[in-house]
Amino acid sequence: DTGDYALGGHPDFLAKEIAEQPDAVRRALAGRLDTRFATTRLGGLELDPRDLRGVRRVLFLGCGSAYYAGEIGAGLVEELARIPAAAEPAGEFRYRNPVVDPDCLYVAVSQSGETADTLASVQELRRKGGRVIGAVNVIGSAIARECGNGIFLHSGPEVSVASTKAVTNMAVSFAMLAVLLGRVRDLSVADGRRLVEGLQSLPGHIAEILERDGEIAEIAKRHAGASSMFFVGRTRCRPVAREGAQKLKEISYIHAEAYPASELKHGPLALVTPEMPSVVLVPDDELLAKNVGTIEQIRARGGPVVAVTDAELPDGLADDVLRVPRTEPELAPILLAVPLQLFARHLAVALGRDVDKPRNLAKSVTVE
Ligand code: G6P
Repeated sequence: DTGDYALGGHPDFLAKEIAEQPDAVRRALAGRLDTRFATTRLGGLELDPRDLRGVRRVLFLGCGSAYYAGEIGAGLVEELARIPAAAEPAGEFRYRNPVVDPDCLYVAVSQSGETADTLASVQELRRKGGRVIGAVNVIGSAIARECGNGIFLHSGPEVSVASTKAVTNMAVSFAMLAVLLGRVRDLSVADGRRLVEGLQSLPGHIAEILERDGEIAEIAKRHAGASSMFFVGRTRCRPVAREGAQKLKEISYIHAEAYPASELKHGPLALVTPEMPSVVLVPDDELLAKNVGTIEQIRARGGPVVAVTDAELPDGLADDVLRVPRTEPELAPILLAVPLQLFARHLAVALGRDVDKPRNLAKSVTVE
C-alpha cells in the first residue's frame, strides 16, 4: 500500500511530503484568514473575545518535532499577543507535577494525535481543570477527542517518520492563533493586515524554496563527510535550529547540535574546526548584524558556514548560502525551516540512508 502509486513519482515519502507543503499550507489557511478585520478565524476554538482576553499564559506541549513547533508557536504568541508563552516536552510535563493554571491556555501539539506522553498530559490537565486545546492533524485521534476543541492542522496524511508538512502547518496554525490572540489585545489593524497578507503568501514562497532543491542537494552533498554539525539560530530562529538539527540526526545519523548564537562563546566555539560545519540561520530582522557577527566568529576559527537566509549577505561571508524569499519577520522562521528539511534529506540520501524509516524510530510513539 506504500508502492510507486502512492509515491506519485517521488523517490520517497519524505520528498513527497516536503513537496506537498504549499498545498498543505493552503489547506491550513483556507477559510481562516479574515482580511476585512485583519485577523484570523479558528472555528474549533469556541472562545469568544472575552475568553480570549482572559488567557494570561500559553503553554505548548508536544514531543519531538511537535515540541519544537510549539517553541515557534510560543515565540509567535509572546511577540504578537504579548502574552507570556513557552513550550515544554509533554513527557516532562506529565511527570513533574506541574501547577495547572486556570488562566493558562494549554495547547497539545501532535501530528498523529496518538503520542502517549502528549495524551497523558492532556488527561492530567483535564483532571485538574486546565483549559486545553489540540493542534492535531489526524481527525478522530485520541488527543483530538480528549481535547474536544482546537485547531486541525489539515496537512494531509504523513507517512515518513520525520515530520515535515505537519510541522510547517503547526507553525502556520500557531501564527494564526497568535494573530487571533493579538487582535483582541494590542495588535493593530495595520499589523494584523500585514501578517494576514504574509500568511497568504507563504504557499507561493514555499514553492519558490522547493524550486531550489537541486542547488540545496549540491550543498548538502559537499557536507556528507562531516561527522558532526552545529545548527545556530537566535530568538525567533532558535527553535528552527533545533528542528534542523533533529532532522539531520534522525535521517542521516550525523550528529548535530543546536545552539543559540549567543551561547557559542560559552563552550561550543571550542569545537569549531575546518571539519565542523555550522548551519547558521540569518533572518533579515533587527538582529541581522548580530548574526553576521556570529558567522564571522565561526569562520575566524576555520569553521565552514552554511547560511540560511532571506537577507542580502555580503559576498563571501558564508561558504554556502541557502536563500529563501523575504517575508514578514515574524513569519520568517516558517520559511527558513524548509531548506533545512531538504538539506537533511539530501545528506541522508547521499549517505544511502532509508530516509522514510530511520533505524530505532517510530512514526508515532503510542507506548512509553
Ligand atoms: C515521533 C516521530 C516524530 C514526531 C514525534 C511526535 O518521535 O518520529 O517525527 O515529531 O513522534 O509525534 P506527534 O504525532 O505527536 O506529532
